[in-house]
Amino acid sequence: MHVLITGSGISGMSAAISLAEAGCRVTLVSPFISERAQSVMAAGGINAVLDETPGSDSTALHAEETLKGGCYIENKEAVRGLCEAAPDIVRWLDSIGVIFSRTQDGEIAQRPFGGQSRRRTAYAGDTTGKQIVTAMAQKCREYEIKGLIDRRTGLDFHSAIVKDGRCGGAVYTDRTGGELQSIYADALIMATGGMNRIFGKTTGSALCDGYAAGRLLSQGARLRNAEMIQYHPTTIETPNKRMLISEAARGEGGRLYYEKDGGRVYFMEDRFGEKGNLMPRDVVSRCMYECPSQVYLDISFLGERLIKERLGEIYKLCLEYLGLDVTKESIPVAPGVHFFMGGLRTDDDHMTDIDGLYAVGEGASKYHGANRLGGNSLLAALYSGRVAAGACMRRGEAPEKSFGDVSADILSDIRTDGDGPGPSQILTGLAGIMNTRLGIVRDEAGLRAGLAELDALSKEAERRRYDEGLSAYENYRIPYMLITARAIIMSALAREESRGAHFRSDFPDTRDEYCRCSLTSCSGGELSISFEDDRIRGDRQ
Ligand code: FUM
Repeated sequence: MHVLITGSGISGMSAAISLAEAGCRVTLVSPFISERAQSVMAAGGINAVLDETPGSDSTALHAEETLKGGCYIENKEAVRGLCEAAPDIVRWLDSIGVIFSRTQDGEIAQRPFGGQSRRRTAYAGDTTGKQIVTAMAQKCREYEIKGLIDRRTGLDFHSAIVKDGRCGGAVYTDRTGGELQSIYADALIMATGGMNRIFGKTTGSALCDGYAAGRLLSQGARLRNAEMIQYHPTTIETPNKRMLISEAARGEGGRLYYEKDGGRVYFMEDRFGEKGNLMPRDVVSRCMYECPSQVYLDISFLGERLIKERLGEIYKLCLEYLGLDVTKESIPVAPGVHFFMGGLRTDDDHMTDIDGLYAVGEGASKYHGANRLGGNSLLAALYSGRVAAGACMRRGEAPEKSFGDVSADILSDIRTDGDGPGPSQILTGLAGIMNTRLGIVRDEAGLRAGLAELDALSKEAERRRYDEGLSAYENYRIPYMLITARAIIMSALAREESRGAHFRSDFPDTRDEYCRCSLTSCSGGELSISFEDDRIRGDRQ
């Protein structure tokens, strides 16, 4: 059988390797090589229970804390599957050459991370994502040499090829010439990441732009929990993006404070005690939002040796971007958009609402509920790739493969006239709306204003200019990015409560009737929001 995968970061490679290992033919398509995927930005580590001796840790506890961190809207069985698979995943990564940091006894070292009561996060200094990508890319190469994985770079996802509710491949835009290319397959796995570019500067990659979510929504897939957007508490602004100051810094003992009357107020410790700095990210970000002045992160007392060994990236980037030596000074930090718990809705096999179309990694909404725990994203990327690959294999070859020539329909969709603003002006406007209206604290008035602003921007976008050519990246993507943005705002309006990353100042309490995941559907170009029916959810303690 032949499986097409869009996206060659960790989740895409995980699916590709699992399929190739079983002898399936894979086409792995991406705009750039894996080493440029957002996955390389993952810093702090990957969660797994590696020592289950009584009294230490257990996968049941890992699952319980994941459900609790996600505020109990996630599916209990799905989360259990994730946590049970974690030890094998980390050991497999170790076996393929990921250089995990080690204890003195030579075991894989684990550090504490937010919202977790045990040292459960395996790490490679603070470049865990890079190490994993390097080892997995090497593993993929072995299958490329055997002819099982065909890598194609320089292609952007355009559309899924869908006929009668069934997916038979995808259409891509060539980055150099702009031509459309159709690739047919028995199944399509989307591994296209989050919706970062809609928000402008985030800690993630601008290549993860929310286009695929909007495009597939309009093709019949649904989005889930689109309103759940994680603000990472500790980021710094740089000219191109927000840089992550990994939670590893607080995992190693770093302390948050602000200054008052010439002294320091350790507000997280004052409020939550010893573990205050490692509360879940939604809690820390909200507390920082309430601080009266600039918040700082102090790691200087950890000493130069530990900092350079375990937090070397933080040392380097603070020196480069802030001219600041973290072994001597504190880092001025602020929350920044970091992760999207929302994404394409999938079933237990990671199949979307379109038959034969799967979604994995950050692009799929699963496991993390209303707030993801640090270290669970790399885990979910690896696990979801494996699950989708297994499901594709069980499903087998597609019985009917004739889909006609879809690129002709797509080309007739593209307008060539227009005197409106260029793509970069629209994207700046979009980021402005999303950052203002979808911040750490939201309310009905702000969200409704956001929808009106989005309407106005969409009208402008309809008059947009194609000054860089017909299929210039932003030109064809913007209308669907606007659809994704609308889905996010509408979901945030519909959830009239506060839960995890979604805080409504007009509904500050968590409400039982919303202990469910939101769903966005698209019919005839109109979006509508509903909530999932009851399934087996995490039990509240
Ligand atoms: O802070 C961090 O290192 C982020 C890790 C994560 O999002 O899992």
